[in-house]
Amino acid sequence: MMLQLLLRRGVTVIAWLATTLLLGVETRDENVDYWIRSGQERLHFEIRRQQEAARSKGNVAKNVILFIGDGMGMSTITATRIYKNQQKGGLGEENELSFEKFPFVGLAKTYEVDYQVPDSAGTATAMLAGVKVNFNVAGLDDRAKYKVCDRSINEKAKVENIITWAQMAEKDTGFVTTTRITHATLAAVYAHTNNRYWECDSKVPEEYKDCVKDVARQLVEDEPGRNLKVILGGGMNQLGVPVKQGDYVFCTRDDKQNLVEKWKKGRKNYLFVNTTQDLMDADLTKVEYLMGLFSPGHLPYALERDTSPAGQPSLLNMTKQALKLLSQNPKGYVLLVEGGNIDNAHHAGYARHALHETSEMDDAVAYAVQVTNPDDTLIIVTADHSHTLTISGYPERGADILGSSNYVAELHGHDILTYANGPGFSRHNNSNCSHNYWREVSDEERQDLRYRQFSGWYIDKETHAGEDVPVYSSGPHANLLSGVFEQNYIAHVICYSACIGPHATYCDVTRFPKFNAHKINSAGTLPSTDIYCIVLILLLLEKIIFSC
Ligand SMILES: *[C@@H]1O[C@H](CO)[C@@H](O)[C@H](O)[C@H]1NC(C)=O
Ligand SMILES: *[C@@H]1O[C@H](CO)[C@@H](O)[C@H](O)[C@H]1NC(C)=O
Ligand SMILES: *[C@@H]1O[C@H](CO)[C@@H](O)[C@H](O)[C@H]1NC(C)=O
Ligand SMILES: *[C@@H]1O[C@H](CO)[C@@H](O)[C@H](O)[C@H]1NC(C)=O
Ligand SMILES: [Zn+2]
Repeated sequence: MMLQLLLRRGVTVIAWLATTLLLGVETRDENVDYWIRSGQERLHFEIRRQQEAARSKGNVAKNVILFIGDGMGMSTITATRIYKNQQKGGLGEENELSFEKFPFVGLAKTYEVDYQVPDSAGTATAMLAGVKVNFNVAGLDDRAKYKVCDRSINEKAKVENIITWAQMAEKDTGFVTTTRITHATLAAVYAHTNNRYWECDSKVPEEYKDCVKDVARQLVEDEPGRNLKVILGGGMNQLGVPVKQGDYVFCTRDDKQNLVEKWKKGRKNYLFVNTTQDLMDADLTKVEYLMGLFSPGHLPYALERDTSPAGQPSLLNMTKQALKLLSQNPKGYVLLVEGGNIDNAHHAGYARHALHETSEMDDAVAYAVQVTNPDDTLIIVTADHSHTLTISGYPERGADILGSSNYVAELHGHDILTYANGPGFSRHNNSNCSHNYWREVSDEERQDLRYRQFSGWYIDKETHAGEDVPVYSSGPHANLLSGVFEQNYIAHVICYSACIGPHATYCDVTRFPKFNAHKINSAGTLPSTDIYCIVLILLLLEKIIFSC
């Protein structure tokens, strides 16, 4: 037993040394001196960072980039940190993702008005509009019920969001996602609906057809959707674009409308693309409106993507092109980037895909950091909710995060990553989910891209989880996203930092002397500089006259 352990250790060390020498992965001797030195370094770094944050108090966020890793809970982030480094031959645990270098971290409470464990439409509405709402509802406050449309209630319950407010401030807006562009998180960007699943007209119940438009139509016909400058993702079916027979269909259009054609109508300087090549070759200096649909439904997982020029772009490449287009506006932009397939992978119990999708989003974050300036760009990286993934079983340092933990005999064959529930319960077949589920799983089998990690309770779709999610931020007033807060608070910080929205009166002209308040006023959100000046002069006069 001892010998075995020593041998295993030996092999690990040799493998580690080999990868270090061959791949140049950073190594270190993790002795007592190392931990004291690195602790002190971090302390000095933090002190400097706090001082810098204090100095930059007057900054305003011209640009805002919100990254939402759909379902990217804390365990997903830790596991991805390890996975990503192991892909390069490292041990993994000591790695840092790009957003883990951000100066500020807070924790968001994700519950919805009526649910303890939330969905993505309600949580995205909280983050974008600044109000918590009901489960599966997008863009309507808590007066609107799930699946029940009442025209008079919906009229009152419609909420505006940071996209609307950014457009009022003449900023450019857009989103990119790896899901259908009509999926939950995106529906919260531009739609008002009692049911996030009413993505096409065929999904809206007959009795509500006059009460609410399907999500896809709201994108193309209504504000703020039709003003979006960048729309990239999947979902040809939902928009009524003809696709090959047999392609996965979540819903189709009974009304036979081609909404992409409708989107093109009356627009100049638009570009519609459906391949990586067309997206990457586009001369974006000549494009004002960009739409890209690369798949009938969600985009394929990155590990299964068609990487040829005729295939689907990576999240990084979509983000690149989005930022290229949006950053041409001197007044700035608001961009939402969604790592949407993280969630889809978790629901299927595909931990490998979930980690890889998270790693892909991390690449997009790294790019955004590289091409923006923290003095004028607020970057937030967060999740809408968590998943039931856990990292457990006492694996050794550097153990393959997608492998098994063999520390104690009882856990022989135990996946390091497991789900509290999901389709991985009956691992060998589904003929009897309540019986005979234990089976030896070989490491080879675990290499399968679609290996489903073990789950403790059978359900065909693994569920979301209800613990808080981390919020990483960098840029103007990012320090306000510290501590434990309600998820809807995020929108309030974005508004304050960018000086947009109905509460923008906080960001008064004394804080932003150079800020063009007139423009905001034309959108009806901020009293003009003149009024401030007059009030100030009156106050001064009053002081002079009455002080003696
Ligand atoms: C992509 O768009 C081109 C025209 O822009 C069209 O000819 C082609 O059929 C489209 N491909 C798919 C898969 O829809
Ligand atoms: C991103 O686009 C470039 C072309 O600009 C292409 O060469 C590259 O392969 C793309 N990356 C991925 C991961 O698809
Ligand atoms: C499934 O498991 C239950 C409980 O052990 C058992 O009673 C039943 O016979 C099994 N059915 C099949 C088809 O194996
Ligand atoms: C599937 O499960 C059933 C019941 O647990 C078992 O009898 C059968 O041998 C399994 N089939 C395979 C292919 O493993
Ligand atoms: Zn989900």
